[in-house]
Amino acid sequence: MIARIPHIAAYVYRRKYKQGKALQPDGLLDWAGNFAHMLGYDDDQFKELMRLYMVIHADHEGGNVSAHTTHLVGSALSDPYLSYAAGMNGLAGPLHGLANQEVIKWIFEMQEELQTKEPTAEQIKGYVEKTLAEGKVVPGYGHAVLRKTDPRFTAQMDFGKKHMSDDPLVNTVWRIYETVPPILQSLGKVKNPWPNVDAHSGALLVHYGMVEYEYYTVLFAVSRALGVLSSLCWDRALSMPLERPKSVTTAAVKRWLNKEVQNLGD
Ligand SMILES: CC(C)(COP(=O)(O)OP(=O)(O)OC[C@H]1O[C@@H](n2cnc3c(N)ncnc32)[C@H](O)[C@@H]1OP(=O)(O)O)[C@@H](O)C(=O)NCCC(=O)NCCS
Repeated sequence: MIARIPHIAAYVYRRKYKQGKALQPDGLLDWAGNFAHMLGYDDDQFKELMRLYMVIHADHEGGNVSAHTTHLVGSALSDPYLSYAAGMNGLAGPLHGLANQEVIKWIFEMQEELQTKEPTAEQIKGYVEKTLAEGKVVPGYGHAVLRKTDPRFTAQMDFGKKHMSDDPLVNTVWRIYETVPPILQSLGKVKNPWPNVDAHSGALLVHYGMVEYEYYTVLFAVSRALGVLSSLCWDRALSMPLERPKSVTTAAVKRWLNKEVQNLGD
């Protein structure tokens, strides 16, 4: 399945955006390089970007929505295709994998509203405050577990510094990085004001001409196949049981709150 996914995803891209002109795989290339090739990007730097992208989006611990959903559905012995599809439906949520699309959309809307491709720190600050005042989250910032700049953000920033340090959009991403954390910190409720993996990826893709941002979460999904499907192999190898969160009644909660029982549900 991991071998097939890039071919299918590239076919979808070519069909939707490139007049249906599908490209055949190049058997001499590696997995990620071949994916870049089938998408229609034969630039060596884009292949290098895909290698980085595919590694850093694969997985990181099993608790995130897509990894956990794949594990949950797989625990019912649903086949890997169904388990992966379920996980990817979770990846499609804006608080999870869709954030990579939300980020670039948010930046494009900011450029449009401010009528500039290179907003200053002051202009970005104003736009962030407007986003928050509208009750929205700042996409690409915050994390359920991490409490510092996501190392996957830093890896992409290093790639940007190496290959495109004068790109205006990439520079905007870096200026947002200087501007957003103190603002989120000042709210006093955000546990992690630092950028996550999704804050950077879109700007690198745009640099190489991949501007179809509604496809970005598909790229994320191709990479995530590596992580969630290898975990599913381990689930089978270790005979992991069917997963089922415990349900408790209100009466049971009351007994636990009154300290009549030690464990909730006893
Ligand atoms: C990733 C995310 C869902 C984690 O959620 P979480 O674990 O509940 O985060 P926190 O515990 O820090 O949330 C506490 C509060 O801060 C807010 N907050 C967290 N990140 C925020 C952000 N980037 N912008 C604005 N507010 C944010 C939450 O909405 C919550 O507010 P509430 O109490 O009024 O509901 C959250 O940070 C977020 O929505 N980020 C933006 C979307 C994103 O980039 N997702 C990709 C994650 S890899």
